[in-house]
Amino acid sequence: MKLLIKSGRVIDPTQHLDKVLDVFIEDGVIKDIMANIEMDNVQKIDAQGKIVCPGLIDVHVHLREPGFEYKETIETGLKAAVAGGFTAVCCMANTNPVNDNQEVTRYILKKAQEVNLARIYPIGAVSKGLEGKELASIGELKEAGVVALSDDGNPIYDSGFLRRAMEYAKCFELPIISHAEDKKMSPDGVMNEGKISTKLGLPGIPKASEEIMVFRDIKLAELTGWHIHIAHVSTAGAVDLIREAKRRGIRVTAETCPHYFSLTEEAVEGFNTNAKVSPPLRTRNDVEAIKQGLKDGTIDLIATDHAPHHPLEKETTFEDAPSGIIGLETSLPISLRLVEEGVLSWSELIDKMSCAPARIFGLLAGSLEPGKVADITIIDPDITYQIDPSQFFSKGRNCPFAGWGVKGRAVIAIVGGKIVYQFEKIRTS
Ligand code: DOR
Repeated sequence: MKLLIKSGRVIDPTQHLDKVLDVFIEDGVIKDIMANIEMDNVQKIDAQGKIVCPGLIDVHVHLREPGFEYKETIETGLKAAVAGGFTAVCCMANTNPVNDNQEVTRYILKKAQEVNLARIYPIGAVSKGLEGKELASIGELKEAGVVALSDDGNPIYDSGFLRRAMEYAKCFELPIISHAEDKKMSPDGVMNEGKISTKLGLPGIPKASEEIMVFRDIKLAELTGWHIHIAHVSTAGAVDLIREAKRRGIRVTAETCPHYFSLTEEAVEGFNTNAKVSPPLRTRNDVEAIKQGLKDGTIDLIATDHAPHHPLEKETTFEDAPSGIIGLETSLPISLRLVEEGVLSWSELIDKMSCAPARIFGLLAGSLEPGKVADITIIDPDITYQIDPSQFFSKGRNCPFAGWGVKGRAVIAIVGGKIVYQFEKIRTS
């Protein structure tokens, strides 16, 4: 099977490439990147005016299967992934049963293989049942194929327990992803604590609840010498803590999500349950600090925290609605606003959405170097449209960006040298 991508603007930060070139793929592997490759008997893609880059990777998604198939399935989640330009995703462990054992990991991998669209990398739980008390079977999870450990959705409160988990995870070279939020500080909190929570009469969540845990996690990374990855950074204070820890050479990496650099707590006004998320949307000052953190490298990567819920679950009072925002089909156009605003260059954005995720979690792809697997995203940078969640492949409709006018979208996703998505068409065979 041969594929030739002609005349696209090839951007690959791993090779410092940003040039109009052709990409030749054979047997699922990148064979050559050069100007004017001429060849017969190959499938050709005309990529003139398009960006050709390493396949986007989202290291933080909730696919809900097993257990919550009414919210999302591995099939609908992976369709949403490729439609958003993602050729690989890492799925969180808060399923039912929890992914704290080999059976669940194997089930997820088998389902994903049947769906055969984006690659899937399961994340195992740190603790059994996400209860923060007893270690999950970490060695067995590694053997079954998890790439990291996380109790995401739940913070791990017991520092002694997390220390042991990190020491254990270190033996298996599995990074720990932290949901850094001390929910005990504001057990009833549903949005950022501040003027707007007071105005709406909603219980708030202070920024300190995130920063206390980020500080603790950094200390444990220092103590154990192991890698902690801070999920969904939402506050300026957390960005400062991570910047300082990196300066001191501590093994910490961090992600943020499109909603934390494009929305503020004001999105909650009108009791908009689609803007309810954990951690909550913060203030303009935090948004600016997160952009700065992305720009100066404090925040390594952009992930979505794609968290689908059934539309009826979100159709209730703000207090009762579950937290979560979907992101697979909006992440690229919302993140491209950073390029439009001059916060990131194209190359920096692609690094944060593909190369850095691959580098940090040791995943295949994230590079177009000859010899690498051919996972490629082709982006039309000029196409303009309105975000319309009713058109999403995801079952989730909990999207606070509905109606936004955006520019740019993935038009082709290639996984292992095969076209799995072509604007509005998902491969069916
Ligand atoms: O808002 C959120 N929803 N944050 C999380 O960390 C978990 C997620 C979920 O699973 O719904």
